[in-house]
Amino acid sequence: MQDHAIQERPAEQDSAPEYDLRQIDCDPNFWYPIAWSHKVRPGKAFAARYAGHPIALIRPENGPVYALEDRCAHRQVPLSKGMVEGDCIKCCYHGWAFDRAGKCVTVPYLNKEGVGRPVKSYPCREKSGLIFVFPGDPALAETVPLPQIAQVENPEFKTRRFYPRLKCHYTFMHENLMDMNHQFLHRRQMGSITARFMGQDKGENFQEARYSFARKGGNQPLAEALIFGKHRDIEGQEQPVEEIVSIRTTYPYQTLQIHDKDGDLVMDLWVAYVPLGADQQGTQTFGLLSVKKPKWGFLLDLAWPVLGIFTNRIFEEDKEVVELEQKAWRELGGDHNIEVFPIVKALRALLARSGVPNANARPLKKG
Ligand code: FES
Ligand SMILES: [Fe+2]
Repeated sequence: MQDHAIQERPAEQDSAPEYDLRQIDCDPNFWYPIAWSHKVRPGKAFAARYAGHPIALIRPENGPVYALEDRCAHRQVPLSKGMVEGDCIKCCYHGWAFDRAGKCVTVPYLNKEGVGRPVKSYPCREKSGLIFVFPGDPALAETVPLPQIAQVENPEFKTRRFYPRLKCHYTFMHENLMDMNHQFLHRRQMGSITARFMGQDKGENFQEARYSFARKGGNQPLAEALIFGKHRDIEGQEQPVEEIVSIRTTYPYQTLQIHDKDGDLVMDLWVAYVPLGADQQGTQTFGLLSVKKPKWGFLLDLAWPVLGIFTNRIFEEDKEVVELEQKAWRELGGDHNIEVFPIVKALRALLARSGVPNANARPLKKG
C-alpha cells in the first residue's frame, strides 16, 4: 500500500471519523448472519466465515444449529468437513468428536477423558431463514437482541433473498444506500428520477434519511409500477411520486422502507454487511426484500422474476461503483473522499464511533 498523507479536513467535518473509515472494523458484539438456514441441512455441517474467522455451522438431525471454530483442535483441519453424529461433529481426519459447546468428547483411539482439547464455540441463533453468530464476547450475547428482519414473517408480503459478495469494505455499502443522490448511476434502469431530501432522524446508534422521488424523464420501470401503480394524472401526464423512502442504518444493519402516500408500508428491505476476511475489505451481503402483495396476489407472483432481474441489475451497478471506490482507496492508500452531504457525514461518524479501529488504523489529521 502506498503511504500518501491523508488530506486535512475542513473544520465543519470535525465530527468526521478520527481514523480512516475503511480501517474501522465491525463491532463484533452484535449478531451477524453468516449463512441462510436452508444451506445447513439436518445432519450436515457448513463452512462459513466472519472477518477471517472460519466458523463451522452444525445442524444435528434433531435440535438447534450450533457454531464452532472451523478448526479441529488436533491438527486444525476444518470441522465442517467432518460427520455429524448425534449432537456432535466428528472430525474427518482422526475422528475426534466435539459437542455443541466445543468440548472434545471422544478421541477414538485413546478413549480417555480429558485427552482432547476443546474448540471455541460461538453463540448461535436462527431467525427468518438466517443463521446468526455473535463473534464478540459471548457473555454479552444474551444482552443484544436479534434484529427485526423486513416482513419475512408477514403473510401480506412476499420476500426475496439476495446475497451479493462485494470486494469492498462494508462502510461503502452503508454510504451507497443512504445517499440517494446517486440515482444518476441507475438512470438506465430507473429512467431519470431525482431524490428530494425530506428529513432525517438520528440517535446514538442510528441514522435515518427520508426522500421522495420525482421522475424527470424516461419510462417508469415495470417493477416500480407494480409496487406503486402508475403515476399519471387524468391527462396521462407523469406525476411526482409521493411515496416516502426511508433509509436507516441501525448499527450494524441497514433498512430501506417505502411507505405509499397513505402512509402504508409497501416495501421493506433489510440488509446486513458481513466482513469476510481479516482486513474487512470483502463483504458478504445478506438481504431480504419484502414487497406488499397487491389485491390480486398472483400479479406479484407473475412479475416476481421481473422484479428479481430489476433489483439484480441495480445491485450490479452499485456493486461495480463500491468496488471501484475500494480500488481507489487501495491505490491512494487512504480515504480521500470529499463528502458534502450532511447525512453521509453523520452516517460516517456513526459508523466510526460504533466500529473498532483495526491494528493498522492511522489517526487522521484534524483541520
Ligand atoms: S485433525 Fe481432527 S481429529 Fe485429527
Ligand atoms: Fe444504488
